[in-house]
Amino acid sequence: MSAKTHITIEQNTDVLKRYAFLEKACMRTLAGWLPGVPEWEAKNEIGLHIWESGDAADLIFQRLRELRCYQPERGIGELLPRLAAALDRAQNSAEVIATIYLVIKKALLEAYRSHPSVTWSDFDRPTVQITEKLLPALERQVAWAEKFFTEIDARYPGWETWRDYVAGLLAADGGVTGMEAKAAEPHEPDNHPLLLPWMNCQRMKDWPIFDPSVDFEPDRKAEPEAHRLWRFKHYLNEMTAAETLGSILWMTPEMTWEYQYNVSRHLWDEIRHSQLGMVRIGQLGLQPADVPQVVQIYDVMMKLPAVEQYALLTTVIEPNGMPEKSANREHWEEIHDEISAAAVSYDWSDENFHIRWGKKWTPVLLEAYGYPETPAQIAERMEAWLLENTPVRMQQKMAIEAHEH
Ligand SMILES: [Fe+2]
Ligand SMILES: [Fe+2]
Repeated sequence: MSAKTHITIEQNTDVLKRYAFLEKACMRTLAGWLPGVPEWEAKNEIGLHIWESGDAADLIFQRLRELRCYQPERGIGELLPRLAAALDRAQNSAEVIATIYLVIKKALLEAYRSHPSVTWSDFDRPTVQITEKLLPALERQVAWAEKFFTEIDARYPGWETWRDYVAGLLAADGGVTGMEAKAAEPHEPDNHPLLLPWMNCQRMKDWPIFDPSVDFEPDRKAEPEAHRLWRFKHYLNEMTAAETLGSILWMTPEMTWEYQYNVSRHLWDEIRHSQLGMVRIGQLGLQPADVPQVVQIYDVMMKLPAVEQYALLTTVIEPNGMPEKSANREHWEEIHDEISAAAVSYDWSDENFHIRWGKKWTPVLLEAYGYPETPAQIAERMEAWLLENTPVRMQQKMAIEAHEH
């Protein structure tokens, strides 16, 4: 057997650092782009993949610590950070999906598949287990992107140039593993300004937009059916909460990995809440495209810095929303609507964690970004801001009721 058959433990560590870097870069770019992609299906998939990319990075970081690598971004070189910045500078859905999925994730997929035969598998079982664990989700992600891409590529002509540039940057750094022959650096195409963060969240042009003046909450007891439909339309609109978290995550890269990991899960939970709205309105005979989109709440929150958006969401909006969820569960159980009751019970369960994360990370954000306020003071200021600025009457009502109790 030749001595060159397998990579050394040091080379293995270097390769794992690159996997983790790229998974995290995918998470970050997809988070920043979630509000910028108008296609509903893509938003739903991307929301899941942000969490899966974050979870993959977290697993690899754990393995790196076992291999005594505690600063996984040290010594990564200068090309991968440039590649990550280039991913952010996509100009539309096709460029995001082509670069993230059809270049980076596809290359990661091939690398994970071959990793067991590259490392000393007999001695490096924990790494082999990780690559085996990560493969199914990555395969599903790439398969989705390949299928979805055929539906959208004609909508965004010229996307190949940016894909080729990003693929060229990866090749110039020796591919995903860094161990392939290094190609010459590609020439950077023109006209690729950074569009992030998105100040307005995007929807397909023909989708209806929410009109606050006609949004009335039907009485739960008097009109249970109208109330249910109204409530699940608002659930569908939790897409904007996910989009808000995407921009917050993108705007706070200085924060620790644990924070980013928690936010990526929080983001996916809001996608899931939107999906429970989507499932339920579907059962009640509506399509997502029939439901007016509450884009205004994302747009108005983007006028605030990321720290204030996070404090507003997790220490005001989410805690204020809890009593209504309990009341809805009780009501739906009472009228034997077990589907709605099950949906809200999972929402309520998730929200407990969101509020817990808010308590944990708001003080850290305040400190990291130099705010003089305490968590209680920023919560008070954000609630006053909400009462003044939200287009959603339900949020005002919840804020007012939270103070009555
Ligand atoms: Fe939610
Ligand atoms: Fe939440």
